Parts: sequence; structure tokens; C-alpha cells
Amino acid sequence: MNRNFALEFVRVTEAAALSSARFMGRGDEKQADQAAVDAMRNALNSIDFDGTVVIGEGERDEAPMLYIGEKVGLGSGGAKLDLALDPLEGTTICANGLNNSISVIAIAEGGHFLHAPDCYMEKIAVGPEAKGAIDLNASPTKNLQEIARAKKCSISDLTAIILDRPRHADLIKEVRMAGARIWLIGDGDVSAAIATTQLGSGVDVLFGTGGAPEGVIAAAALRCRGGDFIGRLVYKDDAEKERAKRMGISDLTKVYGITDLAKGNVMFCATGVTQGTFLNGIRMVHGGAYSHSVVMRSETGTIRYIQTEHRFVDGKPKY
Ligand code: FBP
Repeated sequence: MNRNFALEFVRVTEAAALSSARFMGRGDEKQADQAAVDAMRNALNSIDFDGTVVIGEGERDEAPMLYIGEKVGLGSGGAKLDLALDPLEGTTICANGLNNSISVIAIAEGGHFLHAPDCYMEKIAVGPEAKGAIDLNASPTKNLQEIARAKKCSISDLTAIILDRPRHADLIKEVRMAGARIWLIGDGDVSAAIATTQLGSGVDVLFGTGGAPEGVIAAAALRCRGGDFIGRLVYKDDAEKERAKRMGISDLTKVYGITDLAKGNVMFCATGVTQGTFLNGIRMVHGGAYSHSVVMRSETGTIRYIQTEHRFVDGKPKY
């Protein structure tokens, strides 16, 4: 994968973030998401590459744009790449003007991302210091013991980030019993997974069940940041199991390691939509806006933060 693509793909997440940020706090999730999808698709289709969406807005019949299997890019003999994307990760967050909604895209060579169905995934994510210390077949308590050992601290020094959902009642109870601190979040477990790799975030581990597509995107980000991620698909009914089989999942109970989810050389770009732990949100100013993005590559481990000053023409960014 050509390193020159890095700036091209940051322009894609910038475009999606700038468009959806217009709908911050306006209470309309659909409008915010649609704005991000339209802008991301337009920006992708201006890049000279032959892209296929493998993690996107859903299947062709349920998503009008950026659906799984959609071809993007100018084609014309450019590099063949697979995309795992979420134009607006945290639609509710954006609609309510809360923290940590981002626009994200991960890029790899063809066949390197798990083609995850749109079901749930049980996940554990940690930063580089605790790489190898996590196990989905072990209890949360055992995981906390191993993470504390790896980080040379006690469990009471650890903070677990968990989606605030009724399905996590037992998990939350056990983490509290084990003595760790908890940060409950309303949405956005991609940002939460990334936070485990950031020294200043105060987050040590992500536990819990969230979207499977988000799991693949988070795994790609953690590949670039040297963290660790494991996941197991969770199906709500037989129809979801059948769909997973149709998408090529033969072992329905498999625990996926980070490289099963995102292998080979991976690139990851994100732009903050609302203010976050990891990225600042879009700031609108007279005649333009400021955005804050990151682009990272697993091959080199380079992490570049990009602050961009956008000049608008007729109230819109010029791309
Ligand atoms: P959207 O961006 O699609 O709204 O997803 C937000 C999110 O919180 C993800 O970060 C998370 O993986 C998933 O939803 C959790 O799903 P649910 O809201 O059904 O618990």
C-alpha cells in the first residue's frame, strides 16, 4: 500500500466529519449520518484507486450508499484496496452533541479484513503494554489480573471502559467486584478501543459487546498503535447465524485475534466530529472550519496528527 495514500484518505474522513458536524446536537441521527455518507462517498470517488467496501453502511438492499461490496475510487487500474469504514461512528453522540463521534476509514490490501456480518461482537481491547494479556475465554477478573500484571500495577489502578447497556449488567458487577474503576460510555466503542492505547486517556481496557463491523475497524486502528484486540461474534437469532455463514464465517464461535480481523499492512484515518478523548471535534469559524485528524500505518507504526484549516466557498469546503 502506497504511503502517499495517507493524505488522500485523510481528506475523505475530513470531508465526512465537516459535513456531519453541521448536524451536531440537532437531534437528527439520520441527517447527520447521511451527510457523512454522501461526503465520504464523493471524496472516495475522487481518488485514483480501485476500492471495495467490505465493512460499510450495511448490505446493498438496506444501504443506498457505501454498502458492502460497493466499488469506490476512480478505478482505472489504480491500486486494489479493501475499505472498512464508518462515515459517522457514534451517530447518537453527534445528534446529541456529546463527546467522541468520529469519521473513520481503514484500508488494507484485498482480502485482509474479516468480512464481518452486521451482528454484535464480544470484545476486549488493550494498549501495547498489555498486549498478549487478554483472553475472551477467561473471566473479566482473570483478564484484569493479567492486565495489571503486564502493566505492573494493581487492579484498583485500572480503568475499564464499557458501553452502558443492560446486557453488560453482569460484566459491570464483576469488574466492580474485582476492584477496577469503570468509565461507562453511551456509544462509540471504536474511540473507546483506541483510548486504551493512549497513555493520557486514563483508559486501560475495553470490555463488552458492541457492533462487529466496529470491531474490525478498531482492530485495524490497534494494529497501527501496537495494541491488542480480540473478538467473538454474537448472534441474536438463527437468521444472523445464516447470514454469517453466507458471508463465509464457518466457525461461528471462533475467537478472532487482532490479525484475523485486520491482517497485512493496514492504514487507518480518522477525523473528530465532536470533541473527543482522542481527537478534537470540528470547529466552525467565519469562512471555514478547523478539523483534527490522525493517520496511522501498521507497517511503520507512524502516527500523524493533522490539524487542518479549511476555507469554505459558498459555505462549503472545497475539495
Ligand atoms: P453507530 O455509529 O452506528 O450509531 O454505532 C454506535 C455504537 O455505539 C458503536 O460504537 C457500538 O459498537 C454499537 O453502537 C453498539 O451497539 P448498540 O447501540 O446496539 O448497543
